[in-house]
Parts: sequence; structure tokens; C-alpha cells
Amino acid sequence: MHSMAPQSRDGRPRALSGAQPSADSYHLGNYFGAFKQWVTLQEEFDAFYFIPDLHAITVEYDPALLRERTYVAAAQMIAAGVDPGRSALFVQSHVPEHAQLAWVLGSITGFGEASRMTQFKDKSVKGGQDSSSVGLFTYPILMAADILIYQADKVPVGEDQRQHIELTRNLAQRFNHRFGETFTVPEPHIVKSAAKIYDLQDPTAKMSGSSQSHAGVVDLTDTPQQVAKKFRSAVTDSGTEISFDPQGKPGISNLLTIYSALTDRPIADIVTEFQGQQYGHLKVAIADLTADFVGAFGDRTRQLLDDRSELDRILADGAARAREVAVPTLELVYERSGFVTP
Ligand code: TYM
Repeated sequence: MHSMAPQSRDGRPRALSGAQPSADSYHLGNYFGAFKQWVTLQEEFDAFYFIPDLHAITVEYDPALLRERTYVAAAQMIAAGVDPGRSALFVQSHVPEHAQLAWVLGSITGFGEASRMTQFKDKSVKGGQDSSSVGLFTYPILMAADILIYQADKVPVGEDQRQHIELTRNLAQRFNHRFGETFTVPEPHIVKSAAKIYDLQDPTAKMSGSSQSHAGVVDLTDTPQQVAKKFRSAVTDSGTEISFDPQGKPGISNLLTIYSALTDRPIADIVTEFQGQQYGHLKVAIADLTADFVGAFGDRTRQLLDDRSELDRILADGAARAREVAVPTLELVYERSGFVTP
């Protein structure tokens, strides 16, 4: 019988995150908002990174495409720097405890509480609330289970996931209060400078894989030519001065944010460098740098995708490591919930 929440074997704190395989490729927003932080955190944290395929089926989708996108997702996470030797990299559906815990958490979630999730509201408005699935509605509860099943301390995500992590914290605290200390209450890890990358054609909307047009979305599978074209035709603001002013100059500010994330230089330095120059100069500089970055990224991804059996091996190993933590957490939750031990 367990009396305490299972902790990291070596005493390191845990990090956990996931990114949906719901487009043909991840984009620059996923990379700067999430993956870059995943890679940094794996140095010091016991890290778990996964592909939430169960989340991806909550909207209309094609099964053959999902399978292919799951492999691409794994390859892109590794190309981004996730080290499967260090971090457990796995597919959500390979660890059945996520869905099992989601059921228990759903039973302590208020209907009104779930109804207030803004991402559900946004997504269901697009397709009409009546045609939205129950899975899309309960999606944040599954996400809470993803996090709590690993007793994660930190969850590196972009700004758009903040509300889901707040729900996760509330559910963890509620369960602990009703049934005894069981879950670690996680903290979001949101790096302000890259927490929200905007669409290059509409710099007031976030860059998103589900956008109708990808003219303003830089995909990590784009060719260097496509990348260059997208930056050259990026919508900028009236005026000519290059300055960081997200309200007044959202287009230029977004470009400065991307340039800063790409070079790891402070925005103020970049503004100084481009003083007296035109918007076009900045666009060309970013286009060149990003084209190089995405080009190299694409080469690495293709190499990884050429060896599917190696990817299968990595994902199986990741799932086995994930289950070492997920199984005892679920056992503890079942015991606390009053279920008879089988
Ligand atoms: P998803 O798949 O939409 O996005 C994956 C990660 O990328 C971040 N992101 C961005 N960051 C900055 N600018 C952008 N334009 C941008 N677009 C996306 C997201 O914030 C996210 O960190 N529900 C999650 C997936 C998920 C998850 C989890 C995350 C399922 N279970 C458990 C963390 C922990 C989602 O849909 O993210």
C-alpha cells in the first residue's frame, strides 16, 4: 500500500509537456513557445515529453494522417533537441493510465468550471457548438491527467495553455483536499518573451497550425524558399521606425520577438542594430536566418523519419519509462478513491 506520492527516482524535479500532432508539421510558435524550453529543462529536470494523440481525435481527423503525423511529431521533437536518452519521449495512447485518471478527475470537475475553458469556446465557435464533440469539451481534464499522472512540478507551455494549467492546479488541490495528499500541484513554465508568436499575415492572431492559410505560419517543414517568402511578405505596420511596441506596432514587434528568440539576443540590442534602417532590412535578416534554421531542422527531421523502427524503439522505451511513474500514481489514486484492490 502506498502512503506517499511517488517521487522522482533521483530526487530531481519533474517537467512534463506535450504538443498535438494535429497538423502536418509543428510551426515556429510551437518551437519558440514550447520546444526550446523543453530542451533547456531536460538538463535539470526528470523530463517527460509526449505526443497527445488522444487529444488530436477530439476534432474531425483522418486516421492514416494521424498515424503519419505522430511519427513526424516524434521526429520533430528530437530534431528540436529533445534527447530521448535523457527525457522520456512517448505517445499518449501508449500509456493507458492518462485516460484512466482523466475519468477520475472528470468526476471532481464542475460542469460550469469545464464550460469556462476559453480554448473550448474558441474551437467550438469555429465548428458550431452542436457539432463539437464531448471529447473536445473534456479535453482540459485529460490534459490535467497528463500532467498529474507524472507528479510534474513544471509544465513548459505557451501562453494559450495557462488556463488549462490553472484548472489542473485546482483539480490537484481539490483531490488532495478531499482524499488526502496525492498529487504534486504543478507550476506553468511560460517564458514571457516567446509565450505568444503571432501569425505573419495577421499579427493580432496567434500563429496556429489549424489556420486556414499557412501564408503567415512558418512550418518547420517549409523549404528555405518558402520561409524567405513568408517573411518578405509579412504584414508590417504604418510608419517606418523599427521599435518594439506590441500594441502600436504588432507586426514589427512580432518580427523582433522572433529574431530575438532565434538569436538569443535581447530585443533592445536588435532595435539598436536596426536603428535608422527600414522594415525591409529587418525582414531580410530574419528571412535569411530562419531559412537556415528551418533548412537544417528539416534535414534532421527527414533523417529521423527514414528509420521508423528506430523511432518505434525510442517511443516504446519512452512509454515504458512513463509507465514506471504512471502506474503507481494511478494505483494510489484508485486506493484513495475507495476502489477495491483487484
Ligand atoms: P498545442 O499542441 O496547441 O501546442 C503545443 C505547444 O506550443 C505552444 N504554442 C505556442 N507558443 C507560442 N506561440 C504560439 N503561436 C504557439 N502556438 C502553440 C502551446 O502553448 C503548447 O505549449 N493542450 C496542449 C497539448 C497538451 C499538453 C498536455 C501540454 C496536451 N496535454 C499536457 C502540456 C501538458 C495543446 O493543444 O498545445
